[in-house]
Amino acid sequence: MYNIYVTRKLPGEALKKLEALGTVTVYPNDRNITKGELLEIVGDQDALITMLSDPIDADLIAAGKRLKVIANYAVGFNNICLEEATKKRLPVVNTPDVLTNATADFTWALLMSTARRVVEGDLLTRRGQFEGWAPELLLGPEVYGKTLGLIGAGRIGQAVAQRARGFKMRIFYHNRRRLPKRVEDNLGMEYTDLKALLEGSDYVSLHCPLTPETKYLIDEEELNSMKPTAILINTARGPVVNETALIKALKRGTILGAGLDVFEDEPVLKPGLAQLPNVVITPHIASAGRETRLKMVEMVVSDVSAVLQGRRPRNIVNPEIYKEGS
Ligand code: GLV
Ligand code: GLV
Repeated sequence: MYNIYVTRKLPGEALKKLEALGTVTVYPNDRNITKGELLEIVGDQDALITMLSDPIDADLIAAGKRLKVIANYAVGFNNICLEEATKKRLPVVNTPDVLTNATADFTWALLMSTARRVVEGDLLTRRGQFEGWAPELLLGPEVYGKTLGLIGAGRIGQAVAQRARGFKMRIFYHNRRRLPKRVEDNLGMEYTDLKALLEGSDYVSLHCPLTPETKYLIDEEELNSMKPTAILINTARGPVVNETALIKALKRGTILGAGLDVFEDEPVLKPGLAQLPNVVITPHIASAGRETRLKMVEMVVSDVSAVLQGRRPRNIVNPEIYKEGS
């Protein structure tokens, strides 16, 4: 019998399936588990189901002497020291694909609400400040026919592009690797370098993972390259953007606005951000589609079961551990 630890209560009933394999313990508090609390429990666990907010660093992995699998309830896994896990031949699994559409939908919700000032309008109306229709009330840039720049063109970036076609947008993208021509043609995506994308786009949306290469990918210089009428959307990871530089740019009018679902020091915001009228900020909910979050539980359950029963998991992020002689 195995010990399986889940660091936060998850929706639905699927976790129960793991009870056939051992004892399932769910962190009892309605907040993020701390590093200290993780260190206390990890030594006894065979499997950990973790959240993207859990710091699964090298010390923690070293302390997990019995660990056989770490399943991150997210597509992103920058919270896990993959190098250490791989060194210990410990499989790390995640939840790709199922959240692609929910995240792409939400990217559009943020883009549209930032451009067309939905949140400002809501606040004004609630406060009783709507004094009748007015020709210049809350004007914002339009979306239809504009240019969208996607930084990162994996599954989520491509799903955002697919939706952009309905708005007859020109779509630039920048990615580590250029997509096959067939995919570019299908989605109407044009490959550009980062500078051309920033200079040419009305909306810039981030869909890259957080890695040492993408930390501060959007910094002062990149913000300066953007149009003063442009809007930045971030549903990827906070540290891809230098948040302090972004606040400065938004204050100075270097760019027009930003829609942010993720933050550099999540859940803490850099001083001044929440006071800006030209940002829409949401609490990291891009994948929070009801059906999606249930499917994500099924996925971690299925891969934890696979590993504990000696099978290869489906969504492994360090597949090299299964290679002969590695
Ligand atoms: C959400 O940010 C995820 O990585 O799943
Ligand atoms: C994430 O799933 C991506 O590939 O964009």
